[in-house]
Amino acid sequence: MAHWYDHAIIYQIYPKSFQDTNNDGIGDLNGIRQRIPYLQKLGINAIWLNPVFVSPQVDNGYDVSNYFAIDPAMGTMEDMNSLIEDCHKAGIHVIMDFVLNHTSNQHPWFQDAISDPNSIYRDYYIFAGKDGKRPNNWGSFFGGSVWEEDPAGTGEFYFHLFDKKMPDLNWKNPEVRHSMLEIAEYWLEKGIDGLRLDAFIHIAKADLRQNFPTEDGNGDPVVAEPFFANLPQVQTWLRPFCEQIKQDYPETLLLGEAASANVNLAVDYTERRNHLMDSVVTFRYFTEDNSQVDKHYSDVYQPKTLDMTAFKQNQTVWQQTLAGISYPTLYWSNHDMARLRTRVAKNDIQARSLAMLMYLQRGIPIIYYGEELGMQNLQFDNESQFSDQTVEAFIASAKKAGLSKEEAIKMASLVHKMPARGPMPWNHDKNYGFSEADSWIKGQKVDNCVVDDQIDDERSSFNFYKRMLELKQEDLFQDGDYYLLSTDKNSYVYQRDLGEKSAIVASSLSDKETAVVIPKGYEVEKLSAGDYQLNDGKLTLMPYSGVVLMKK
Ligand code: NOJ
Repeated sequence: MAHWYDHAIIYQIYPKSFQDTNNDGIGDLNGIRQRIPYLQKLGINAIWLNPVFVSPQVDNGYDVSNYFAIDPAMGTMEDMNSLIEDCHKAGIHVIMDFVLNHTSNQHPWFQDAISDPNSIYRDYYIFAGKDGKRPNNWGSFFGGSVWEEDPAGTGEFYFHLFDKKMPDLNWKNPEVRHSMLEIAEYWLEKGIDGLRLDAFIHIAKADLRQNFPTEDGNGDPVVAEPFFANLPQVQTWLRPFCEQIKQDYPETLLLGEAASANVNLAVDYTERRNHLMDSVVTFRYFTEDNSQVDKHYSDVYQPKTLDMTAFKQNQTVWQQTLAGISYPTLYWSNHDMARLRTRVAKNDIQARSLAMLMYLQRGIPIIYYGEELGMQNLQFDNESQFSDQTVEAFIASAKKAGLSKEEAIKMASLVHKMPARGPMPWNHDKNYGFSEADSWIKGQKVDNCVVDDQIDDERSSFNFYKRMLELKQEDLFQDGDYYLLSTDKNSYVYQRDLGEKSAIVASSLSDKETAVVIPKGYEVEKLSAGDYQLNDGKLTLMPYSGVVLMKK
């Protein structure tokens, strides 16, 4: 049966940074509502909002203290109802971020759990260890141990995979599973069309008594992913959750964030008979080339290039393996990584060419706000702007190797996720029309992308994305078969076929002129980024350029 989301074109909005209407420097729901005509013009049919629930904002909304209300900085429940209604009128589906692996430490469940060791909510979280001794050496994604002392002074510790103010929920407990389903259904009842299941692959943990083996065995925290990612109980516990949602709200898109999932897990998570997700977002597409890294200091925030051959291999494997099973997600950036134009694309032509290459494959595009303009990461000038202890450690290591603090901050600005969350530039008014007040996120804009300059300019990046998305809506690019043509590492060329219709999408990955041989008969240009020449089946692409050619 066909679902709306089989042909979804998703636009990811970081609500805090999109459009502020009450001039507090924080974007809000009314701002998104105001910009619906812009979204319609671009040609997307769904928006995914990063979390908008009540939150102390330790992790920008991923630390939820009340799932049943909107964070006052972003609006009210009435605003949310109006946003859903207006989006639907405009033919835009609404997908909400659903944080199910952890809550904020300010959530009443956790507050109760630590105020009374006999509270029924104690078992909503994971408490272990005794006499002030941590149960194991597992490390948190945000640095340090996953174990934080119980503030109640019991000598136990609670488990947190992310910030210490974000305790993990205990999914072993059926009450937790029931409560999370109740929350999800509350929002679906309101009329939202999909849930992005945040960090769902982490809800199951291995036996807490074991250390993750390390060379020196000294007990220092180590990120022990195999002990808390993709364990089999993830599927066992989520299946009834997903099944119930699909039974009650069959048109719900369940989009799972599965950062470390390989393609085989993606099959498990999305195969229809497994009754889990419809599609997953993996971070495994982007294999980095580490050969240029300076080994004298930490490599975490040293800019690296994309290993294009590995990228091509990854893409083809995901395309082939998921054919007939589910739609892969297609994306270049999100709020957890540097922007496409900062991280990969050397210039605007390459940004367009890579976009075309990615989104015209088989799957669901997810476009990160501002990407359609060619927006780049902000440039930070102070380490506090990253709000991340791992950046401080990076700066310290770079300084030891002789770099200045400024150099290290500049580097981290090109790699870190925070500078990718800058305000949307609408016009040339104060703060680019984002807000009358200075934005919640500080940093310098380094590009000259502004909506007002691009919207009516046929040659702009915005209008390139618009034309590309029109093409994406054709059944050939939605449902056609995909296969990669064999070329060397300097280009990425694939074919889409549906009945009599056929197209070639060709992108250069090189800074030199690149020639590829394509099958004869593909002569009608549908879209291009940069220049090319076509001569009797020989396609010559200028540096980083790309073209879509249809069979006559
Ligand atoms: C994944 C989200 O994308 C990221 O931004 C967040 O920090 C973690 N999950 C924790 O919720």
